[in-house]
Amino acid sequence: MRQETQVLDSQEAGADVPPMISFDHVGKRFFKKSKPFQALGDAHFDVRPGEFVSIVGPSGCGKSTLLNITAGLMKPSSGSVRYKGEPVDAVNTNVGYVTQADTLLPWRTVRQNIAIPLEIRHHPRAERTELIDEMIEKVGLTDFGNHYPAELSGGMRKRVVLARTLIYQPETLLMDEPFGALDAQLKLVLQQELLRLWSGEGTTILFVTHDLAEAVTLSDRVVVVSSRPGTMRTIKTIDIQHPRDVFDVRFHDRFRELQQELWAILQDDMLRGGEM
Ligand SMILES: Nc1ncnc2c1ncn2[C@@H]1O[C@H](COP(=O)(O)OP(=O)(O)OP(=O)(O)O)[C@@H](O)[C@H]1O
Ligand SMILES: [Mg+2]
Repeated sequence: MRQETQVLDSQEAGADVPPMISFDHVGKRFFKKSKPFQALGDAHFDVRPGEFVSIVGPSGCGKSTLLNITAGLMKPSSGSVRYKGEPVDAVNTNVGYVTQADTLLPWRTVRQNIAIPLEIRHHPRAERTELIDEMIEKVGLTDFGNHYPAELSGGMRKRVVLARTLIYQPETLLMDEPFGALDAQLKLVLQQELLRLWSGEGTTILFVTHDLAEAVTLSDRVVVVSSRPGTMRTIKTIDIQHPRDVFDVRFHDRFRELQQELWAILQDDMLRGGEM
């Protein structure tokens, strides 16, 4: 199903850079009780190397589905996804994926959880300890390496998930509401850490959130998706300079304007309700 897509106001900027991820009219249909069910309507946009792009839209509009397709865990029913110019037709090992339900293995310590990607990739044992120490420090969990997940707060567990994803230095990060359930203060701390890691490493990030303020705080561009079947309403460039302080940026006039503009686009879909 393809709906009208409004003019995408910023696709032109930087259009000469070959995209990292390219969505070409991607749609996804599931079957529920043998009846076809269009989850995602038409996703059509590019993510450039090193860019931080957020996707916002009502619950059930296909945001997680789009990330699953990008990670190669699911095939689109229509259209295609390219990663650095190549079609994604198997699990995409270039991306690190923090899924919406990401959990830790409860019987493993923080260190052992963070080690999982290194074990899967048969990373030399001798180098693992140093890499894990470095990552634990980066996410502010020094002294907690030998704790089990049950001994950590919710925010600390999120940091471990982040560390586990970052440890093999994926060139692209897919993040599905990684800070969703956290309290406001902790969210700010982790957002600042993520921005610091992103600007230091040049990682490309595709980030799903329900939180407009979070999308404006972090992103270079925000993709607004309609209620199911998700179709792009617009792409908004967040023309606020980096580096950003996640607390101070909220008092920026442009921040408020952008948040209002995004809400104006999103509110009809939100009020009509997705599956919230
Ligand atoms: N594997 C699946 N089989 C059948 N239906 C599915 C499957 N995955 C997702 N759906 C349906 O597709 C729609 C889109 O789901 P998706 O998880 O992508 O939404 P979302 O935008 O991530 O929502 P939320 O913001 O609540 O996380 C939903 O109606 C969901 O029930
Ligand atoms: Mg989701």
